[in-house]
Amino acid sequence: MTGASAGLGEAFAKQIAQRGMNLVLVARRKEKLEALATSLVNAHGIAVKTVVLDLGREGAAEEFARQTSEIDIGLVVMTRLPWFWAVLLKMISKPSGRVFA
Ligand SMILES: NC(=O)c1ccc[n+]([C@@H]2O[C@H](COP(=O)([O-])OP(=O)(O)OC[C@H]3O[C@@H](n4cnc5c(N)ncnc54)[C@H](OP(=O)(O)O)[C@@H]3O)[C@@H](O)[C@H]2O)c1
Repeated sequence: MTGASAGLGEAFAKQIAQRGMNLVLVARRKEKLEALATSLVNAHGIAVKTVVLDLGREGAAEEFARQTSEIDIGLVVMTRLPWFWAVLLKMISKPSGRVFA
């Protein structure tokens, strides 16, 4: 879930967590991401990883792939920088994953 530290992304993350899915939360503000992650883990018993990353910077896709290389990502939900998904899908383990941009 990108843009997870505020707004639509945070709201989507809460909805996804309510359905029992594990999450990777991405945004630039570490404190906001970690506070959300803690609340979702406590409320729903899911696994949550935070990735503090500026998706607009060069090499962001590669950095995201590096930080999530151990995770089988099947669904990508993006509320920011929708162009990023094309790059991202080349990097994640399941290119057939669904993207809602
Ligand atoms: N809210 C609406 O009703 C609405 C309606 C139609 C379209 N939209 C569009 O939907 C998108 C999200 O809207 P929103 O209202 O949820 O916006 P928001 O409240 O400003 O949230 C934006 C999120 O994106 C993250 N973000 C911004 N730039 C980033 C970057 N370079 N790298 C990583 N994360 C970044 C922010 O986190 P950090 O600052 O921590 O990085 C934040 O979590 C926007 O593009 C908006 O134009 C919104």
